[in-house]
Amino acid sequence: MKFAFAAVALLGLCGTAQAATATRGAFGQLADGSKVEAVTLTNSAGMSAKIMTLGATLQSLVVPDRSGKKEDVVLGYDTAQEYLSRPNYFGASVGRYANRIAKGKFSLDGKSFTLATNDGPNHLHGGPKGFDKRMWKIDSISSGPDAKAVLSYVSADGEEGYPGELKVTATYSLNDQNELKLEYRATTSKPTVLNLTNHSYFNLSGNDARDVMGNMVTLDAARFTPVDATLIPTGERRAVAGTPFDFRTPHRVGDRIRDAKDQQIRFGRGYDHNFIVDGAAGSLRHAARVEEPGSGRVLDVSVTAPGIQFYTGNFMDGTFFGKGQRAYRQGDAICLEPGVFPDSPNHKDFPTSRLNPGQTYVNTIVYKFGTH
Ligand code: BGC
Repeated sequence: MKFAFAAVALLGLCGTAQAATATRGAFGQLADGSKVEAVTLTNSAGMSAKIMTLGATLQSLVVPDRSGKKEDVVLGYDTAQEYLSRPNYFGASVGRYANRIAKGKFSLDGKSFTLATNDGPNHLHGGPKGFDKRMWKIDSISSGPDAKAVLSYVSADGEEGYPGELKVTATYSLNDQNELKLEYRATTSKPTVLNLTNHSYFNLSGNDARDVMGNMVTLDAARFTPVDATLIPTGERRAVAGTPFDFRTPHRVGDRIRDAKDQQIRFGRGYDHNFIVDGAAGSLRHAARVEEPGSGRVLDVSVTAPGIQFYTGNFMDGTFFGKGQRAYRQGDAICLEPGVFPDSPNHKDFPTSRLNPGQTYVNTIVYKFGTH
């Protein structure tokens, strides 16, 4: 009796220590019959994140607003099959190379490689069947101060035209401080190039109540990389001072997004640009803040990557429907995609996207939520 009581008390103690939990369950199945699973990470502060095996995708992210109301703050679909059929990369883990590689060509050590051109003349987000459309494996889940899910994927040598067998993990963890941490790691069997990131579309109003034009955005970036008309960097690192790209102090997204005098705004149809994050790449540092005045939700993004792609959903045109059969339109979300710069394999003076055998690639992203 005494013993039983002690055991229960001990369990109780452990229960307090295990503040955040990870659970695993079915998410659905694809048209070809393959099963999709999901891990849900839940903390005691009202947040939960659902990650599905298809694309190691952040399928939903529930965050309390200033009055404690819990709502989903990321765009996506209700069913797994829709993620396959409609290429918007909602919440997906993107690879092997997030963003563009000019004309789908690069060379390494004198050898040329040709990739699919799936975005006009360029290669985008790893090609027609990138990591977002692959089934990842759940390696482990665990509860504790950080609830954690480790997913993995092995990309065969030559997959989508890239050299080397690439072993990739995506580790999502959630703590009680409302920090969702995401870490991508990879090793390769041959020299290769890569750029892994997460492509969440944030709408902090919750269930897309409003578009993001009124969101206040801060980007810790004194420079960005201007692009040509096909969104390939020209190689220049341009100061943001005096341009619509100066977000060093908070600005409403909508204030300068129609400034057609700026050629870069015209090329991007708004914001679709890589910002060079201030400070030393490799160290985790604050890169971006988004504040949604209506709900009071605030998102702070810290990164180890040299750059962050700020994209305002410019290519969403109301022709596809997301969760709850809601039409997604231009300006309905903000993407903040930390990584190396677009088209780095073709720019020797950009931070390198090369990975050699024996090295471990790491890209760490922390999304911290709060209210004001
Ligand atoms: C790119 C956009 C693209 C979007 C969806 C972003 O990372 O910068 O140009 O339309 O992803 O594919």
